[in-house]
Amino acid sequence: MGGRKFYDIDIAPYVLPADIEEDDRLHQQHFALKYICGGNYTAPIHDLIKPGSKILDLGCGPGQWTLEMAQEFPQADIYGIDINANFPTTVKPLNSHFIVGNITEGLPWEDNYFDFIWIRYLFVGIMDADWQNLYREIRRVLKPGGILEHHECDGLTVNPGPKFRKILNHFEEAFISRDLSFRLAGELNERITMAGFEDPQQSYISVAIGRQGGKIGEIWAANLKDGSLAMKPWIAELTGLTEEEYDSIIQYIFDHEIFEHDDYHNHHIVWARKIQ
Ligand SMILES: C[S@@+](CC[C@H](N)C(=O)[O-])C[C@H]1O[C@@H](n2cnc3c(N)ncnc32)[C@H](O)[C@@H]1O
Repeated sequence: MGGRKFYDIDIAPYVLPADIEEDDRLHQQHFALKYICGGNYTAPIHDLIKPGSKILDLGCGPGQWTLEMAQEFPQADIYGIDINANFPTTVKPLNSHFIVGNITEGLPWEDNYFDFIWIRYLFVGIMDADWQNLYREIRRVLKPGGILEHHECDGLTVNPGPKFRKILNHFEEAFISRDLSFRLAGELNERITMAGFEDPQQSYISVAIGRQGGKIGEIWAANLKDGSLAMKPWIAELTGLTEEEYDSIIQYIFDHEIFEHDDYHNHHIVWARKIQ
């Protein structure tokens, strides 16, 4: 659609394209989030990861997190799984392993296999009805004492200007049309507890959108603009906007409106242990 490659909705409701341009955006997003979060994880995993430990990156995308964890923990094996085979297959650390798979169809590992499981930004692809099963599967493949860490960005931007508010309403309608939860970030704690994890630790980091947030705010705004444009073909069609109207709204928001409003995103983080 519109020159971008998307999944057929019957295969995956994933809202973003699966192409090289999107891989570039995901790489930029990874480095921005690593800076914002002060590293690649927040849970106390240093005492957990020992020689032979296993780490899983669910919906690993182009695999930058997986690769960096493989370098940081050379004594462990790091697995990345994604429906899209856009991760490196040859030039990569020997302790990194990539697998193609749809994570809503069960996780292809035995019980009690992983020490640490990581999820970041899958609210754009996993249907509301599939989260509880996925968490149950995660619990199954985690070892007792193992940790799940889940990061999601709240789709509900805080303090948006009028045009941004309007387009966010369109995004939310579009997500609902695919049974995706635009507000998953704020529900992580409750959902993870319901799946049987103990004592979840939650926090969030506010990320300013635009130059009022300094260099990282500018990078975040540029990434958000690219992500919004990437969804154009199907959201424009769904909402009855022409592609030109959609472009001009997004350009106005990111080139003008965000500078007049202190808008920001809340990036939510929850980590929890499987006790039994
Ligand atoms: C927004 S990207 C995030 C990538 C990575 N977790 C990160 O934070 O950089 C979402 C990823 O989820 C993958 N994905 C979507 N639905 C999936 C599914 N059902 N099974 C496996 N991967 C899926 C997409 O292909 C994409 O790579």
